[in-house]
Amino acid sequence: MTDSQKVFLNGQFLAKDEAKISVLDRGFLFADGIYEVIPAYAGKLFRLPEHLQRLNNSLQAIRMPPVMSDQQWADILNQLVSPHSQSDQSVYIQVTRGAQQNRDHKLPEDYQPTIFAMCQEIAPASLDIIAKGIQAITLDDIRWSWCHIKSVALLGNILLKQQATDQQCAEAILIKDGFATEGSASNLFIVKNQQLITPPKDHKLLPGITRDLVLELAKKHGIKCVERDIAEQELVTADEIWLTSSTREIMPVIELNKRVIGSGEPGPLWHIMSAKFSEFKNQLRH
Ligand code: PDD
Repeated sequence: MTDSQKVFLNGQFLAKDEAKISVLDRGFLFADGIYEVIPAYAGKLFRLPEHLQRLNNSLQAIRMPPVMSDQQWADILNQLVSPHSQSDQSVYIQVTRGAQQNRDHKLPEDYQPTIFAMCQEIAPASLDIIAKGIQAITLDDIRWSWCHIKSVALLGNILLKQQATDQQCAEAILIKDGFATEGSASNLFIVKNQQLITPPKDHKLLPGITRDLVLELAKKHGIKCVERDIAEQELVTADEIWLTSSTREIMPVIELNKRVIGSGEPGPLWHIMSAKFSEFKNQLRH
């Protein structure tokens, strides 16, 4: 057994195939749980306080108190990533409302949450492919209306993503009531006349940590940003479209519904932002 196979489950570090949960776990039965994904570069966790804040916000939204302190999380997650300081990793955390005696929709008054964490490599090769530009399609946003919660109930997201995959596309941009909300597993930005536009944070999308960082870096470097709704028709005429996430960073969309976006190559503002993002991220490595 190598360290790379160690996962954290309810207070213990175990080999992946030794970690077991109950068939009556509410996460398994009802998707009654939430998750987080946190990148770690050269063994250093990226924007940990922001990710833990979002984890606690998700817990609160599903009526669960924090399951441990930020310091306890940091200790556990550092133990998971420290054997992998030679590579970049993504840490996955899942917290569910635990197992019950019987299947019952009602929330239990007394329960022991199930707390799980593991890490896996972020392959540099996949980021190199993304940097060349991705294809995307637009799809009707069929998900539930509390998309700000990082819920493990991802059936809507994965079926949408699969429709994109079926059409040889890397992402689906989701449309709700005529407006683009986000990607199936990413946040949305468009560039129009040198201005960066992204939908405001509300129940229609996940408040992405990468999204916030892109806005922060853009403001710092004098790029004009506005948070407002993006009408579906604005996508085709955008100079650039980007999709952001912790594991795929800033993805330039060069083709949408088989139509070329901008020049058909990652745009000039993407090049600037991508360089600023890498610079910021690489500061952490030293
Ligand atoms: N997902 N929107 C959705 C629906 C997402 O699933 C994600 C990320 C994001 C981007 O959030 P962040 O920048 O904090 O990663 C937006 C993760 C990576 C996942 O499910 O694996």
